[in-house]
Amino acid sequence: AIIRRKDYTPFPWRVPEVRLAFDLGIESTRVEATLSVEPNPQAGAASAIRLDGDGLVLESVAVDGEPRDDWQRDGEALVVPLSSGPHTLTIVTRIAPAENTQLMGLYASGGMLCTQCEAEGFRRITFFPDRPDVLSVYTVRMEADAQAFPVLLSNGNPVEEGQLEGGRHFAEWHDPWPKPSYLFALVAGDLVARRDSFTTMGGREVELGVWVREADLSRTEHAMESIKRSMKWDEETYGREYDLDRFNIVAVGDFNMGAMENKGLNIFNTKYVLADEETATDADFDAIEGVIGHEYFHNWSGNRITCRDWFQLSLKEGFTVLRDQTFSEDLHGAAVKRIGDVRMLRSVQFPEDSGPFAHPIRPDSYKEISNFYTATIYNKGAEVIRMMRSMAGLEAFRKGSDLYFERHDGEAATCEDFVKAMEDGAGLDLTQFRRWYEQAGTPQVTVEQHHEGDRVTLTLAQVVPATPGQPDKLPVPIPLKIALFDREAGTHSGEQLIVLTQESQDFTFDGHAKPPVLSINRNFTAPVAIERDIAREDLVFLAAHDDDAFARHEAMQELLLGYLLGDGDEAAREAIGTAAGAILADDALDHEMRAELLGLPTFAYLAERSEVFDPGAMVDKREGLKTWLGETFAGRFAQLHDSLAEPSRAAGMAGKQARRMRSVALAYLAAADPADGAKRGLAQYRDAPGMTDRQGALAVLAGLDGPERDEALADFYSRFADNALVIDKWFTLQASALREDVLGQIEQLARHQAFTMSNPNRVRALYAAAAGNPLAFHAADGTGYRMIADLILELNLRNPQLAARFVPSLGRFRRIEPKRAAMMRAELERIAGAGKLSRDVAEQVEASLG
Ligand code: ARG
Ligand code: ZN
Repeated sequence: AIIRRKDYTPFPWRVPEVRLAFDLGIESTRVEATLSVEPNPQAGAASAIRLDGDGLVLESVAVDGEPRDDWQRDGEALVVPLSSGPHTLTIVTRIAPAENTQLMGLYASGGMLCTQCEAEGFRRITFFPDRPDVLSVYTVRMEADAQAFPVLLSNGNPVEEGQLEGGRHFAEWHDPWPKPSYLFALVAGDLVARRDSFTTMGGREVELGVWVREADLSRTEHAMESIKRSMKWDEETYGREYDLDRFNIVAVGDFNMGAMENKGLNIFNTKYVLADEETATDADFDAIEGVIGHEYFHNWSGNRITCRDWFQLSLKEGFTVLRDQTFSEDLHGAAVKRIGDVRMLRSVQFPEDSGPFAHPIRPDSYKEISNFYTATIYNKGAEVIRMMRSMAGLEAFRKGSDLYFERHDGEAATCEDFVKAMEDGAGLDLTQFRRWYEQAGTPQVTVEQHHEGDRVTLTLAQVVPATPGQPDKLPVPIPLKIALFDREAGTHSGEQLIVLTQESQDFTFDGHAKPPVLSINRNFTAPVAIERDIAREDLVFLAAHDDDAFARHEAMQELLLGYLLGDGDEAAREAIGTAAGAILADDALDHEMRAELLGLPTFAYLAERSEVFDPGAMVDKREGLKTWLGETFAGRFAQLHDSLAEPSRAAGMAGKQARRMRSVALAYLAAADPADGAKRGLAQYRDAPGMTDRQGALAVLAGLDGPERDEALADFYSRFADNALVIDKWFTLQASALREDVLGQIEQLARHQAFTMSNPNRVRALYAAAAGNPLAFHAADGTGYRMIADLILELNLRNPQLAARFVPSLGRFRRIEPKRAAMMRAELERIAGAGKLSRDVAEQVEASLG
């Protein structure tokens, strides 16, 4: 069935209070739910209540204490006749956590029990109006074996705990804040906590806990520090204070996504909690801090103000991604973070926006909401709010967010509510801007520049491309920060923000005796693709001189794209060499930024920018460019690799910057001279002070041949055999290697004793890497496509969410050269014809086939 945004109606009943009593066991759990219900004055009258369910065994129903058997089942739902007026509903169900391989609802992971309810997992725990606009105050009582489950956690604050007969015990928690069912959580297990506390700006003393298995306790310090930094930042930046006496996070080894913002009890994939220098890279540390921030920030943007329905998902996710991005920018410098975020947007979201599953940040319809936890909803959603922020300025934006939080606190709100609060609070007119919520597709902007006398005219034109179901598009407001550089002086007369609102528009600037060099979409103010007519020398100039770090990086990327997507002429390559030389010689650059500027475009983005992509040819060309750069600057790269060995051992920012550049230098050296690369790589591997250098070396070695590779891979495995997250890296590094025999190696890794289909991290470690590796996935004989299709079919019913995530890689066939495209399509058709498909996989496959 298709669910449509325009069909929204409020639920006929309110459920002000919920009491849940769990009798917990891995094999079987009994759930007694007591719901106080009353007619919803905002909705029409109803003579029954319809409760969602999924895979539940119903034991009993009572209304106002009287057993009832006049209920009906409507598919998986339970319909109980109710006279108007308030009632108490008591429903007993039984569930089997050990058999829950979907990891939605209550499930078992490594001997513990935990929950994931967003979006529609609560209905797998008990019958309930499982929709985000039904808000209830929850009281949760958990009873379990005291030895197997010594720790019992739920939302809110603890109320009571005690021993029971037969080695059992119980705990009761109460969450005073009304919340929708998707924010419910419980955890039961043999866990230990790192504890700390935080005093809020209003003087509330909050007890903090990071709960993990005992063996992981030593790797929780960074997570705890990240919680405290998040709490402080949200007070300072948005005036948002925490609102309970407890804040707990729990790390779980089997988890479909990154983490979940359950009220007062955030549940995390271990990947986004556990870290120390020995086992986690600098990037891992940053990702942990970012995700902990993200989930914490949801306490206001998501929990205190939640979503009316799932079409509004970007209301909480887009805003919260923006909040976590700027949190990281504020803490560690904006430039490198922004470049990384844009790289991700272009590699993942742009292809989504130009592919068969393109959808607006506020979709109009869906079949399975899990399929809409996308880069579009999250990352483009964040970009859309970032545009409002750029247009308003920080101060006015804060007024808008203050008004939003004040006006809608305690409500289930809509994207429209947010936009309206921004209009009223920040003083923006967002009438036309609302189209960003309605239209899918990445706007394409062309720029022409004319110079006459001392006047410069920029002619900007925009096209929002047609997407499935949306053939005709209207122009959107596109805010662009620009600067006009005087080439000789190397300076500009100030940055300005222009907003392109029409299909085509002229902008004039006086006082330029000579044609200036245009720096545009500085800091990536708008999530658009820009096509501009610019001389190569001007790009070289910007790559060497632009004072906006993002724009400088962008100029370098344009040079690289020009060469890689063009016919590869000598002059284009020379221009890259000139710019790279300037970057390598620029002493004012920090090493992290230097490394960033020297990064080649990702394959995903190259594919996105090609009309018809030939993966094999692109690998040769991109690798060839790497080799040429490595040869051209061999001396400088060798000098960097040697001289940064000591600085790489330092703590803090300087060490991180050195490590980043050092591994990039190693990669270029290895491309130019594999034998030297293998020697240097093994030395870097052996002497590595931590995981950043070790992984950097191993990533390079994995692409080479010889004893150095074998030694490092074997050492890595045995050294970290008992650490699942590091073994994930071991799988990923090998599956990502750009080597001819990689597909055979992936097949071997799939048979390795450490591989398992039941752990999502392990599946992604091997197969997401395989699907992203052009030499594996796009193997000319189609075996890579078959492998991914087989994977989708194997996971289809076992874990539909995980399975569906692999469909879009096959769905991109329209942009691939015809021989491969036909094989990709054939695999999609094979899946479509394979019998019972989960809703998740079916929706993705149908969209892909178009
Ligand atoms: N709200 C969570 C977050 O963004 C993600 C939950 C996703 N769950 C799902 N079933 N798709 O942090
Ligand atoms: Zn989120």
